[in-house]
Amino acid sequence: MVVASSFEEAVSLIKDRLDIVDTISQYVVLKKSGANYWGICPFHDDKHPSMSVSPSKGIYKCFSCGAGGDALNFLVKIQNKDYKEVILELAEKFGIEFPKKYTPSNENKTQKELMLKACKKAAQFYNMQLKSSKDSNKAMTYLKGREITDEIISTYMLGWAPNKYDALYNELKKEFKDEILEKAGLILKSNKCSWIDRFRNRIIVPIQNETGEFVAFGARAVDEGQNPKYLNSSDSLIYNKSKILFGLYTAKDAIKENDSVIIMEGYFDVITAQSHGVKNAVASCGTALTSDHVKLLSRYTKSRKIYLSFDTDSAGINATKRGSEIIKETLASVGEIKQFDESHISAASDGKYSCEIRVVSPPQGKDPDEYIRSMGGDAFNEHVKSAPLLIDFLLNNVLKEKNTAKTPQEKSELVAQVIDILKDVNNKVIQTEYVKTVSSVLEVNENAILKELKRSENAHFGNHIPQIQKNSVTNSSQFEIKAQKNLLSVFISNGGYENYANLSALLPENIIHDETLIIVKNTIDKLIGTVNNVRELTNNLYTEFIEDDNITRIITDIVDMSESFNGLDADELKQSVRENIQRLNRCYTEHEAEELRQKYRQVNSDDMEALKVQMQLRDEIKLRTGDK
Ligand code: UTP
Ligand code: MN
Repeated sequence: MVVASSFEEAVSLIKDRLDIVDTISQYVVLKKSGANYWGICPFHDDKHPSMSVSPSKGIYKCFSCGAGGDALNFLVKIQNKDYKEVILELAEKFGIEFPKKYTPSNENKTQKELMLKACKKAAQFYNMQLKSSKDSNKAMTYLKGREITDEIISTYMLGWAPNKYDALYNELKKEFKDEILEKAGLILKSNKCSWIDRFRNRIIVPIQNETGEFVAFGARAVDEGQNPKYLNSSDSLIYNKSKILFGLYTAKDAIKENDSVIIMEGYFDVITAQSHGVKNAVASCGTALTSDHVKLLSRYTKSRKIYLSFDTDSAGINATKRGSEIIKETLASVGEIKQFDESHISAASDGKYSCEIRVVSPPQGKDPDEYIRSMGGDAFNEHVKSAPLLIDFLLNNVLKEKNTAKTPQEKSELVAQVIDILKDVNNKVIQTEYVKTVSSVLEVNENAILKELKRSENAHFGNHIPQIQKNSVTNSSQFEIKAQKNLLSVFISNGGYENYANLSALLPENIIHDETLIIVKNTIDKLIGTVNNVRELTNNLYTEFIEDDNITRIITDIVDMSESFNGLDADELKQSVRENIQRLNRCYTEHEAEELRQKYRQVNSDDMEALKVQMQLRDEIKLRTGDK
């Protein structure tokens, strides 16, 4: 057993023992080619080996989707776990003892186990009550009314919490301490310092985690006027509602098999769906869809085909919009969302997209539960098969208002909504196709829509153009970022590390503009005095940003670029730094000049103003060229 004195030390000891090739080989078939290894990236769909693994640098990097990091980052990403959890597991595996405060104490561990046990017992108790207690009749009647069979009751362990203050408590207190029952969310302290059951007079829907353990409960009211409609367990040591999906345990095989998942709104939507052959259905538990939910689902569906089947009322449509935004954001790094249905033109294009979001909205404004009960699971599955892409659903939702929009103002309001949807379509050909359709449906001139679209895109773009303010922190263009990364990469090459101080002295102030890269540079400055070699430096750099996937990628780019500076001597490195500075200055000058030119074009109606800008432009360029 090795004992680490700090969290950082423990992480560094773990990293010393993690071989990047061994680590990744457990998940990806790697083939050696030259100094590096290549394999198919597990973080996006690909048939080609776009991911390189560099044993000398200890990093992996996918040239297709941009994923990258060190071995630890790979494990965190592929296991889709909290990095602390992964570190603790690795520490155990490598026999590294952690500083006390980072280890979940034994007490904590057994507490978790006891809470899980208590929840299981509670689920069994409630289930028994439903089947045999005297006051469960109304619950049974209610469930039978919703066509919930005995079989379904057993499959989902549905239960009944009697209308008594201590039914569950009396049963479980024999076996569990009050503290455990309270932490598991099963009992509450009543004002008289005694304990009462949290769930009373409610139908119990137990919530299972991915591995089938009972971790929480949703409890539905049965009486008229009983509020809230659903009372849910709060988050606890064993339950985090933003990471758990109701029904996933029973749906996961079907999700894998269909390579798709249907997200619904309610517990009973899922129960009815799954019991009627719509087996890949899940729901979030009394909360909106989160990024963690999406990550969880991406582990089960390779092509990330996600169907949203929320209610068809306006709340449901809003949930669809919000949910799809979360999905897009979460998967943005993987690639583009599918925005055009070419299924009728060519074969399915699986693998090209980060995700495919479709909307299943059964007719007559019914929710999935009602629809499936009246029309059957097969009928619902047919709707799934023909479900429109998100973009088509959203457009139709606007276009169906066409008859109510009579005046030019009303029409232009609809066009504005359409544009809001279309401005996210990156492919111009596809975008134009949509504009054609919209123009004919709304009977609005196609060019007018295109113009409005362009205007909205420019306005959007305008927000992102950095202000012309020298010496200020800005977000740079892609090209500038590349040049800045290249400059930084000199510093973490082997020779760059040796000559760090001398090379740093060459850097003009504010030469690094990009916010994130400034953070990275400052961190390197901070770490440089605390490490013994360049590998330790990059290792610690990764550790600093262990929770930030974006910065981890950026570091990986820089580490990767640094390769080309290895083997250069001090003078050659100085020369590289100078060249990089020059290139960056040229980038900045060009960027600023372009902005000034744009400004110039915009103000050409006013001669005086135009002249002023033109002069400013000249000065600016002169000044910048003089700089070099
Ligand atoms: P809905 O109100 O749409 O109910 O809530 P539902 O699913 O159709 O419920 P049934 O079919 O009438 O029984 C959808 C989901 O929102 C959460 C629950 O997860 C529910 O399944 N919810 C709703 C709550 O958490 N609390 C509430 O009070 C209401
Ligand atoms: Mn319902």
